[in-house]
Amino acid sequence: MAESITITDNRSGNQIEIPISNGGVSASEWQKLLPGIWFYDPGFVSTASCESSVTYLDGENGILRYRGYPIEQLAEHSTYLEVAYLLLNGELPTEAEFAAWRSEITYHTYIHENVRKRFLDGFHYDAHPMGMLVSAVAALSTFYLDAKDIFNPESRHKQIVRLIAKMPTLAAAAHRFSVGMPFVYPDNSLDFAANFLSMMWKVAEPRFDANPMLAHALDVLFVLHADHEQNCSTTAMRVVGSSHADPYSACAAACAALYGPRHGGANEAVIRMLGDIGSMDNVPDFVAAVKQGHGRLQGFGHRVYKSYDPRAKIIKRTADEVFEITGKNPLLDIALKLEEIALSDEYFTSRKLYPNVDFYSGLIYQAMGFPLQMFPVLFAIPRTAGWLAHWQELLDQDSKIARPRQLYIGLDSRDYVPMVDR
Ligand code: ACO
Repeated sequence: MAESITITDNRSGNQIEIPISNGGVSASEWQKLLPGIWFYDPGFVSTASCESSVTYLDGENGILRYRGYPIEQLAEHSTYLEVAYLLLNGELPTEAEFAAWRSEITYHTYIHENVRKRFLDGFHYDAHPMGMLVSAVAALSTFYLDAKDIFNPESRHKQIVRLIAKMPTLAAAAHRFSVGMPFVYPDNSLDFAANFLSMMWKVAEPRFDANPMLAHALDVLFVLHADHEQNCSTTAMRVVGSSHADPYSACAAACAALYGPRHGGANEAVIRMLGDIGSMDNVPDFVAAVKQGHGRLQGFGHRVYKSYDPRAKIIKRTADEVFEITGKNPLLDIALKLEEIALSDEYFTSRKLYPNVDFYSGLIYQAMGFPLQMFPVLFAIPRTAGWLAHWQELLDQDSKIARPRQLYIGLDSRDYVPMVDR
């Protein structure tokens, strides 16, 4: 059977045969037959915006792989820094490559004093740390003017290292500011996750050593969040990157996209929802209300996954390990009951709504002591590696500027009416 489709223009009877390649058909071929007729696809539900070799996602079967490696294996055996290298370079690092990479990231964790003293300190006392992060990442572009040199491999690499390394520092600085605590400088003797925890929680002790199990659990969460192919924030990164903006500006746009409750803000929404439900007895009524259209079950459903999100499975296990140290999050029982009821209810099963990565991640963050406002920030830290891998791929592919078309549904031409005659 031919691996192609044939499109007929019923107005003229003209046809065009378009090959199916890598599971898609080229829209520019379609344009040859139908110039000026556009695919109408709000939300890009049926549109592939690029070719990519970073992450493979099969939503029907719950499969997620970075550069071919199953997420389950990476979560069990790898670390966030190694995964970041893999996403960016396509291969796992050798021992020497990893040592060099870790050293580079470790020695770029400091932020310019003015970023903290003048820029971050200028925010209002109750500023949301995610808003601060979005702005601070954009502001970095004004500190690193060489970032504009995006086709210079050396400069590009330097910005990638800076962004991955400084993200935890900015995130922790935003938190410390929002709770009125002094800024903690990075401790370059610590691993990536442990260093972040030190910048978050250190008070007066000379060195903050996080519980190694908690630092490991956080690192696993970072691995799980490092990339997820063409999600909303990665698409924002690619769209802004396609204009050849510097990577800090593009990354700030990606952070902004991640901020919303439909995307990276969902883990915060889950905790608020579980708190509102209040007790296991209220779960059936809550589910009934959702089915009647009163709100959504936060942390459920996904544009691509139509089965259990593989990351949610791993997170559920990680949650048990964390709760052994921190004590059980009291909201866990409500979450488990909610999952049990939803997964046996026709409304959710028929729509293929399963728990996504955010359903349990918030419970872990909360048990570890992170305030709700920090949840999207905790997502942005590791996703930076994925954003940058896609940004780099985009530039190497010499892609076109992102510029979709529209179906115009407004008024036809009409004459201006002076104000006195309106
Ligand atoms: N609770 C109840 N019903 C839902 C939910 C939900 N969480 N999600 C989807 N539905 C229903 C919709 O009402 C719709 O029903 P209908 O066909 O009767 O109208 C159907 O399922 C399809 O929903 P869409 O909104 O069309 O699905 P879409 O793919 O556009 O949305 C999304 C995906 C945004 C994730 C959605 O499932 C949602 O809002 N979930 C809750 C928020 C959330 O958890 N977001 C995190 C996503 S993962 C991430 O970004 C890391």
